[in-house]
Amino acid sequence: MSNITYCVAPGGRLQGQIRVPGDKSISHRAIMLGAIAEGETAISGFLQGEDTLATLAAFRAMGVSISDPVAGQVRVQGVGLHGLQAPTQPLYLGNSGTSMRLLSGLLAGQAFGVTLTGDASLSQRPMRRVTDPLRLMGANIQTTPTGTPPLQLQGGQALQGIEYTMPMASAQVKSCILLAGLYATGETRVIEPAPTRDHSERMLSGFGYAVERDGACVSLRGGGRLQGRSIDVAADISSAAFFMVGASIAPSSDIILEHVGMNPTRIGVINILRAMGAHIDILDSSTVGGEPVATLRVRSSPLHGIRIPEDQVPLAIDEFPAIFIAAACAEGETRLTGAEELRVKESDRIQVMADGLRVLGIDARPTADGMIIQGGQLGSGQIDSHGDHRIAMSFAMAALRAQGTVEILDCANVATSFPNFIELAQGCGLALTVIEQAA
Ligand code: S3P
Repeated sequence: MSNITYCVAPGGRLQGQIRVPGDKSISHRAIMLGAIAEGETAISGFLQGEDTLATLAAFRAMGVSISDPVAGQVRVQGVGLHGLQAPTQPLYLGNSGTSMRLLSGLLAGQAFGVTLTGDASLSQRPMRRVTDPLRLMGANIQTTPTGTPPLQLQGGQALQGIEYTMPMASAQVKSCILLAGLYATGETRVIEPAPTRDHSERMLSGFGYAVERDGACVSLRGGGRLQGRSIDVAADISSAAFFMVGASIAPSSDIILEHVGMNPTRIGVINILRAMGAHIDILDSSTVGGEPVATLRVRSSPLHGIRIPEDQVPLAIDEFPAIFIAAACAEGETRLTGAEELRVKESDRIQVMADGLRVLGIDARPTADGMIIQGGQLGSGQIDSHGDHRIAMSFAMAALRAQGTVEILDCANVATSFPNFIELAQGCGLALTVIEQAA
């Protein structure tokens, strides 16, 4: 592991036509469902990032034959719902909350026990949100006394379906329970307080597994089968978001983003930026493997502050670091509420973003569940990303409107979700240089 610092010289504009890497949420799910399906699953557009590679390695460790990903192409030889084998060691999932929370559900009903571990950030993240419902289903699963990883699952537990009303809007919790439900007797029903990303439901249906949606309730019955298939993974709208913000704030920018996933449960960032005055055109739309995709054109435009509608929060949950940069460059005040989940992401994204914005001279006031930002002139300075990939990439884009160099510390984890960020950003015009030191 090395320490990576980004130095981004001020000014410039974004131009060009790019395809950002594959969607992280869909890539994880493609490996997971492909592994427990029958027959082969051929994935294209797979995200070769550290998080999704952690999921891939976990299934290899459970006996699944998976080809080495090459240019986003991966083949998974499914072993069926009951074909996974006991791993010989704990499964290390790095920085990836999605891997840990979804795997806890998928593995709760296996015949074998398993331990799930992660890096320093993942080891601080709350896991009772998954262990509570899994225990109600009959799982034997332990956390540390504070509810954090490692997770220890005992094998050989018979699971029963439950009806569970989630206390927070979380696609990871919903997916965890549905994956456990594949192994449970009877029906498993999950009720969400607000719509969250529905890639698990779409993909389960694509694998031929019956999933019902009735209002806020998603349900399935255990004991079915999944049939391997081919999956084309769209480009990740969460990665595209950095370029949407960069192109919006940097004068004379004009950028085309190809094949971007446009699932309605993920497009909050487009809705929010447009409400702030962003110039985003959807050039063409199609559906690929049950997921909508489109080409986006983003041109610079003066932005103004808004009150972010709370119903957009779950639909843009990973994009707030980038949206906060847009707000800092906007005229007037932007106010976010109802986003307390941001405090338990890869970092406390409310505090870490507010601290960074203040270093750059912006009046950013963190609140328990959001932030109040007064748009202004960005200065220069050194930002600590706290090892959070999305914080690092967001502040890199902020330099486009800064008066001096923005230096961002602790950027190695950009590789968890966007391994070629540096090259793509440089190619579009960001004056980014990288300083790498052995840790
Ligand atoms: C994800 C769900 C979201 C999101 C995460 C990926 C998923 O987390 O922040 O990056 O793939 O299901 P929550 O479900 O905890 O909100």
